[in-house]
Amino acid sequence: MHIDVITCVPKLLESPFNHSILLRAQKKGLLEVVVHDLRDYATNNQKQVDDYAFGGGAGMVLMIEPIAKCINALKEKRQYDEVIYMTPDGKKFHQKTANRLSLLNNLIILCGHYKGVDERVREKFITLELSIGDYVLSGGELAAAVVVDAIGRLIPNVLSDETSALTDSFQDNLLAPPVYTRPAEYEGMKVPEILLSGHEANIQEWRLEQSLKRTQERRPDLLDGYEL
Ligand code: ADE
Repeated sequence: MHIDVITCVPKLLESPFNHSILLRAQKKGLLEVVVHDLRDYATNNQKQVDDYAFGGGAGMVLMIEPIAKCINALKEKRQYDEVIYMTPDGKKFHQKTANRLSLLNNLIILCGHYKGVDERVREKFITLELSIGDYVLSGGELAAAVVVDAIGRLIPNVLSDETSALTDSFQDNLLAPPVYTRPAEYEGMKVPEILLSGHEANIQEWRLEQSLKRTQERRPDLLDGYEL
């Protein structure tokens, strides 16, 4: 998968893709993330990418020309499956969307900043608007990093143990069960006996029970869509 991220603050995205699972995905050649500095596409001598909002009001707005220039240049090289805009008024990002996006080939992710982008960018170029939650960040960069991380780890063959993504929280509308590792006892706190039993079927049953219990307690809303 190839992901182009467009931002006016590229420094914010210098590191998040270069560690852990996303680094491994890139080394395996399964993921390529390229960050583009919007200023490189500025159309005037001042390298300006934002301007005051028509009609007044506080906050700057990202201009359409640099964004259009950047997206058009990218589109000359590849066909994109989605052109995503990160914005707090977008569709709430869920695991289901991450699953779907992880099977695509080419994505553009545009990060808003300040008051956002000129509305005409959204009309002309954007195919999907995503929000990572009901709060406002200073810009879309950290949100884009969240989306790339969530998608990247789901790309087929990225995780070495294929089942580990399948047992994530939310993957089947349930929260993940508790997990333990050595030591089997810490200051009198014991790991549940069943996990030490080696009885695979009983362990699976216990994990499902725990998932259901945890989901019922913490996120009963998720169970509305759960088929028993
Ligand atoms: N940009 C600013 N806040 C955001 C949010 N909550 N989700 C996505 N992009 C954003």
